[in-house]
Amino acid sequence: MKPILYLVRALPGGHFDRLAERFEVRGGAAAPAPRQAMLAEAADAEVLVTSYIDRVDAPLLAGLPRLRHLASYGVGVNHLDLEACRRRGLLVTNTPGVLTEATAEHTLALLLACARRVAEGDRVIRRGGWTSVDPAFLLGTGLDGKTLGIVGFGRIGQAVARRAAAFGLSIAYAGPREVAWPGARRLPLEALLAASDAIALTVPLTPETDNLLSAARLALLKPGAIVVNTARGAVVDDAALAEALRTGRVAAAGLDVFRDEPRVPVAYLGLENVVLTPHLGSGTRETRSAMAAMVVDEVDRVARGEAARHPVA
Ligand code: DGY
Repeated sequence: MKPILYLVRALPGGHFDRLAERFEVRGGAAAPAPRQAMLAEAADAEVLVTSYIDRVDAPLLAGLPRLRHLASYGVGVNHLDLEACRRRGLLVTNTPGVLTEATAEHTLALLLACARRVAEGDRVIRRGGWTSVDPAFLLGTGLDGKTLGIVGFGRIGQAVARRAAAFGLSIAYAGPREVAWPGARRLPLEALLAASDAIALTVPLTPETDNLLSAARLALLKPGAIVVNTARGAVVDDAALAEALRTGRVAAAGLDVFRDEPRVPVAYLGLENVVLTPHLGSGTRETRSAMAAMVVDEVDRVARGEAARHPVA
């Protein structure tokens, strides 16, 4: 009998066929099954493949006594109870690196859309609001010569910096370690917020970064600053950001991630100066497929008795 691999949801690219010889692959529906149904089907699973959005907590693990490997599709691990995994001695793996460039690209897309009012302009035209040619209509903010403050200067933050430099932005960053980056200044978080014309959040969600952009920290931003979040929704105090956007204290925000996805705080929905995208940071055909291929490679490697390449510490 083959060991069971349970796939919490379908992943792009058709890569899981590659595991059919080694595993009985179960699950893989477009949306995750309700928990009881999932536990019934996955009860004997030795491998669970989850995604960056699907929570794996202690009660779920308790229902999977044979589980050995938890393979997460995505780089973020805030949806996993890692302590419970450690207690169980589970191997946990993720897919770092492969989504860096796509996520950085989307960060720039949101930054540009905010600065140049792309989504707002599109909406104005669609509702018939562009009725005369006025050189002062819907003016945006140029990025050339401005400062982009990157919060978190890991792989994704650095990939954002590479792209931002091409738009003439100076780079400053706040992060746990000094990174040798030509022309970039490392600043304490508060100083970074005060010095930047735009802020890009690229930190992982941890207890330390939960609510990192709090009301008090938002108040440090330059009037008219732009905020872009492609990290995790919980990094931002939504009520405080929505209020700062309403008053214009923050000129615009580009938000790709939300605390309780797929729910988006209603406070944002009525604001013209927010660009909202549904967790599209890594959302290119190439990247989402490459992430699935990476999961399959890792599961296969571990099943063949080799060491995992991307164990989560
Ligand atoms: C991740 O991998 O954690 C990303 O958020 C997916 O886009």
